[in-house]
Amino acid sequence: MCGIVGYIGDKNAQPILLNALKRLEYRGYDSCGIGIVADKNHKINLRKAQGKIQNLSNFLKDHPLGSGSLGISHTRWATHGKPTKVNAHPHFDSSKKFLIVHNGIIENYQEIKDFLKEKGYKFLSETDSEVIAHLISFLYRGNLLQAVQESVRKLRGSFALGVISSDHPDRLIAARLGSPLIIGIGKKENFIASDVPAILDKTRKIVYLKDGEIAEMTRKGVSIFDLAGKKVSYKIHQVSLKLDSVQKEGFAHFMLKEIYEQPKVLSRMFASRIKGSKIVLDGLSLKDGDLQKIKDIVIVACGTAYHAGLVGKYVIEDLARIPVLIDVSSEFRYRTPIIDKKTLVIAISQSGETADTLAAVREARAKGAKVISICNVVGSSLARESDGVLYTHAGPEIGVASTKAYTAQLGMLYLFAVKLGMVKKKLKPSKVKDIVRGLKKVPNAVSQILKLKTKIAKVAKANSHFGCFLFLGRNINFPSALEGALKLKEISYIPAEGYAAGEMKHGPIALIDEYRAVVCIVPRSDTYEKMISNIQEIRARKGKIIAIASEGDDVIKQHANNVIYIPSIYKMLTPIVAVVPLQLIAYYISVARGNDVDQPRNLAKSVTVE
Ligand code: G6P
Repeated sequence: MCGIVGYIGDKNAQPILLNALKRLEYRGYDSCGIGIVADKNHKINLRKAQGKIQNLSNFLKDHPLGSGSLGISHTRWATHGKPTKVNAHPHFDSSKKFLIVHNGIIENYQEIKDFLKEKGYKFLSETDSEVIAHLISFLYRGNLLQAVQESVRKLRGSFALGVISSDHPDRLIAARLGSPLIIGIGKKENFIASDVPAILDKTRKIVYLKDGEIAEMTRKGVSIFDLAGKKVSYKIHQVSLKLDSVQKEGFAHFMLKEIYEQPKVLSRMFASRIKGSKIVLDGLSLKDGDLQKIKDIVIVACGTAYHAGLVGKYVIEDLARIPVLIDVSSEFRYRTPIIDKKTLVIAISQSGETADTLAAVREARAKGAKVISICNVVGSSLARESDGVLYTHAGPEIGVASTKAYTAQLGMLYLFAVKLGMVKKKLKPSKVKDIVRGLKKVPNAVSQILKLKTKIAKVAKANSHFGCFLFLGRNINFPSALEGALKLKEISYIPAEGYAAGEMKHGPIALIDEYRAVVCIVPRSDTYEKMISNIQEIRARKGKIIAIASEGDDVIKQHANNVIYIPSIYKMLTPIVAVVPLQLIAYYISVARGNDVDQPRNLAKSVTVE
């Protein structure tokens, strides 16, 4: 949520910042801005725009910032104050000597604002962030680093900051407390950014700033201090991420590209994690003896990752016979969960920066539970705060609607469940063999579905006029129904509900008439006939049915208006395959409605505030 980029070097900062900012646009895109210290007179020039970065880029063509090799920039997802130009970052202090960009929330901003107002500081915006600029100005005694350090000590909340000053054309200051911020080390130039892909074309030498650290950067070097002002050492990581992984590579949208990457992501995962009939979970950090002692599991996650967790619950309980409780992170953290040293908490998160999931993990660890995370972003806060981490290595996911991260999370949950089932001696070797054989067939099954792209696009377009969708599934495909509905509402803005089909008669059936479309996930399974009964009840009420069914099922054609076939695979694994047509349906409906697929309204990829 919100993207920050900063530059100090020997080149003109404007194009560098603008380019990097575009790569962070997925974090928020309701307004943006860029501020640069002029090389000539050290005055800070500032430009802002409402809406997307393209608007800022267009504005800069007529109102260039002039040459300056030190600057900060920001793309915003509004929390405090509407997405207007005045609320856009960067923010000045009253003297226009200090300029800041901020990602996160300042919880005690009102208190500080009241205090500073009394001292005569004039506030222009409705944001919590503006207090930081004025506070730095209030505390400044000639040393910028010290003023930022003192300010940070007074701020409550979670945040990442970039600060520049016209008094110090040779300094870029960055601070992190709870929101992600990385430092890129270049030759005679250094960068800050909210994540690595933003600056990947400039440097691969990355320092992950830790919570409570403040960096002072010049053109020549970087020094990092803790909150008390003591210099700390840091490690420079060489990242190997490919630049093309953050480009569309000929696809119309990142979301489509990421849907297409799924077979590759899954086959890479299974090839590296399945060795014969052994499951190799490097990073888990729990020995077999530790796994044996686990008495229950709690899964915490948000959004799509939560749906992956729901599938995980079915699979772990089935294969390892351990009770699994699952909560959305924001609920878990505010109730009084019953967990102790024998509870294993599994946190699932693509970004590893979701504020609620991080808070849930901290809560769990404080209660003595062991925490492992299933995470996509290497070095993320979640990964660092977990006892063990199972990286999905799905590559950067840029489309706001999560696709490949979801199937990768499912893949990892299956592997973990099999491993746990084996350790707990709940699985016969023949069953392990069947599941492993089934998993290895999944990438190809997903590829087969992708070949149906044209057909799925046609079905999606033909149904894109419906004003309401229901998604129904049973058992292990109930979470698939939830995920299908979430995908659709995220990018098409059509109200969509996911339900366990057995719940139909307890309410949702009241919605059904000829103006509703119902997507039924009905692969061959133990609940197939029950699903067919539900489908008939919908038809009797004139609802339009799109069925996701197993290849070779001719019966379903009599019941559904449209059928999309998925390859038959090991029953328990169907969610990982059945979700692919659901992703494509959502995608093509969004395209048909002319929406911005990759950057849907009001959403942000990474929700780093509560
Ligand atoms: C946001 C994204 C979703 C994502 C959720 C959790 O809502 O739009 O796609 O599922 O956050 O994110 P995480 O990074 O924790 O998986």
